[in-house]
Amino acid sequence: MSNTIQYQHGKILVPDEPIIPFIEGDGIGKDITEPSQRVIDAAVFAAYGDKKKLIWKEVLAGKKAFELTGTYMPDETLEAFQKYLVGIKGPLETPVGEGIRSLNVALRQTLDLYVCLRPIRWFKGVPSPVRYPELVDMHIFRENTEDIYAGIEFMTGTEKANQFLDFLINEMEVNVIRFPETSSFGVKPVSKDGSERLIRAAIKYAIERGLPSVTIVHKGNIMKFTEGAFKNWGYDLAEAEFTHQTFTWRTFKQIELEKGLDEAKNALSKAKGMGKVIVKDVITDAFLQESLLHPFDHSVIATLNLNGDYISDQLAAMVGGIGISPGANINYNSGYAIFEATHGTAPNIAGTGKANPGSLILSGAMLLEYLGWDKAAEHIYDAMEHTFSKRRVTSDLYSMMEGATLLSTSEFADEIIRNIH
Ligand code: NAI
Repeated sequence: MSNTIQYQHGKILVPDEPIIPFIEGDGIGKDITEPSQRVIDAAVFAAYGDKKKLIWKEVLAGKKAFELTGTYMPDETLEAFQKYLVGIKGPLETPVGEGIRSLNVALRQTLDLYVCLRPIRWFKGVPSPVRYPELVDMHIFRENTEDIYAGIEFMTGTEKANQFLDFLINEMEVNVIRFPETSSFGVKPVSKDGSERLIRAAIKYAIERGLPSVTIVHKGNIMKFTEGAFKNWGYDLAEAEFTHQTFTWRTFKQIELEKGLDEAKNALSKAKGMGKVIVKDVITDAFLQESLLHPFDHSVIATLNLNGDYISDQLAAMVGGIGISPGANINYNSGYAIFEATHGTAPNIAGTGKANPGSLILSGAMLLEYLGWDKAAEHIYDAMEHTFSKRRVTSDLYSMMEGATLLSTSEFADEIIRNIH
């Protein structure tokens, strides 16, 4: 078998020694990449000995690419992710200047990575602002290609804004713009196709992992035809495509209306007893409260791009912050996946040995799970928890932990490797 991961009939086929392209990244990317790879390699070795191994292949992006090739995102880099299907990256600085696209957005768009997946779990010993962090175990599926992020915006006073205003008033008979002369405009595209593929992926993930529920988070009370439609398309999809594996809150309400609350409750507990995934919905603002007050009520979260942005940061803060929050951008239809540290380049600490490599290491654990190498991922989770519980941490967590030992980026990785062994 070659060293290239293949995608066939909806499944990825992984050789024992797959080539994994990686982008080192800017700023602290350089500090965290090598130590993270050492941890990931140690976990694979502990799980499979000589039988399996990742073959790291560096591809260029960001400042390093610019210095070596004169371009921030060489074609070869995009081609490598296309060829090898699964890769990992450190943070990339978004160069400030006219006409330079965000490199992260370029990768997501080229590979149509429509799911931004963020698992949120707490590791014993990590300082948390919530009272019961051990109850936090959520998996965010954020739509990655649509919504207000499409970038369709018109600045007030420009010709385009005036044309758009004219169109709204004269063609669409809109008469609710409070200050038409000084308004800028943004367009929020949300499609049935885009919503369905995101929610389908979230439900499948819940079913495959035996998770209890999928919460559709939306602001459909205000944005009825975008966020409200997202919710309705989600329920339609669950009921049509996952009839036997899910029970929806909409069905609960229907039974309540027709047969009363007791019957509805009976149907719900029967569905739970059968291990069905409960598909429900919550308005975004209520979700932000609920996830703090009753985190155990939510497991998989399916949401639109902007909501997902806010939710990801709040939930990450609940379990220790961006230094240890992993992420992935995935297209479940083509198999393309790029795992990434969710924080930025942290220029204020780059090169000082203060960076926490946890986010990238845990992104590596997600990558291993994606390959089906769960045993190796478990080694990482266990060793990291062990390290935190001994209060041996990098500077971001050190100041919040009484009696902790301060470790550098590299020492923290070494400690995890020792705990893997
Ligand atoms: P940032 O995440 O780089 O830094 C925010 C704060 O968190 C800083 O105080 C930093 O020191 C700290 N921090 C971040 N990662 C840490 C780690 N691993 N360990 C310890 N402390 C850590 O966000 P900022 O400053 O807004 O962005 C800096 C640059 O990063 C920008 O150019 C931005 O575009 C880029 N960026 C890239 C991302 C990516 O490639 N996925 C994501 C977010 C930002």
